[in-house]
Amino acid sequence: MQQGLLTFAEHSAEQINQLLQLAKDFKANPANYSQVLAGKSIVGLFEKPSLRTRVSFDIGINKLGGHFVYLDCQDGQLSGRETLKDIGGNLACWADGIVARVFKHQTLLEIGAGADVPVINALCDLYHPCQGLADYLTLSEAFGELKGLKIAYVGDGNNVTHSLMIVGAILGCEVRAICPEGYFPDPAMVAKAEQLAAQSGGKISVSSKVEDMHGVDVLYTDTWISMGDNTKLEQIEQAFMPYQLNMQQFNQSGAKYVLHCQPAHRGQEITSELMDSGYSLLLQQAENRMHAQNAILISLFK
Ligand code: CP
Ligand code: NVA
Repeated sequence: MQQGLLTFAEHSAEQINQLLQLAKDFKANPANYSQVLAGKSIVGLFEKPSLRTRVSFDIGINKLGGHFVYLDCQDGQLSGRETLKDIGGNLACWADGIVARVFKHQTLLEIGAGADVPVINALCDLYHPCQGLADYLTLSEAFGELKGLKIAYVGDGNNVTHSLMIVGAILGCEVRAICPEGYFPDPAMVAKAEQLAAQSGGKISVSSKVEDMHGVDVLYTDTWISMGDNTKLEQIEQAFMPYQLNMQQFNQSGAKYVLHCQPAHRGQEITSELMDSGYSLLLQQAENRMHAQNAILISLFK
């Protein structure tokens, strides 16, 4: 497998800060990068639905002079006909890179094992690194300095939480995951983030105490039920409701802004009042998906 972007866990702070700088430069001067992918094609292989990731990669690649081929794999096309390694090998015959949204992280590794082109993780069970980079781009625009920034992630411990913790730990942020008992982030991901934070001067914590969101700079939430999870809302609503981000929680926390990777479920993990308020960075975050991803693409293909 060529060097792609699967997790960010192996990146240094310097490398991530360079990507953030590149994303800002692409955002300010897109014309300077209009030929980076000239003559190149990127395949986007999606086992799960997507609005932001699919469209921001397609339009972003177009702005870099490249061509995006969307491959809908939501009907199980990745299993049964041939091995994942063979799929990777065949795609690499024509494509210069593969963007993949998959159920299992292992799928990315197996596709990559056969593909002699970079593989970019567009979300899996463990990580959402493109989202993570866009989130810190947004925070950097809002706050300037990222080192020492205090972020509370409130809700279900999931792929978005893991990438927020890992990238934040590398950059020296304090990331508090505040989740109902039984819905904490994956302990192995927390351990990895703690190890990275120990090197950067950052801090990682996990608790079920809602009051732990007090004193942070920014609040972050995501869906209570991720794609592919068949849990019914009625089964978990009672446990999650105290973790809903609303104006009262926001005001008590002292945070300046609220983030959400979207899709958002209004009235569940976040109220419309907060989501539509002046404290919301949600659309800036969505726009930044494209700029962050283009920084990744530029760094891989320049
Ligand atoms: N945030 C995000 O990845 O959105 P989509 O699922 O719409 O791509
Ligand atoms: N945690 C969510 C993120 C969606 C962008 C999911 O995996 O469905």
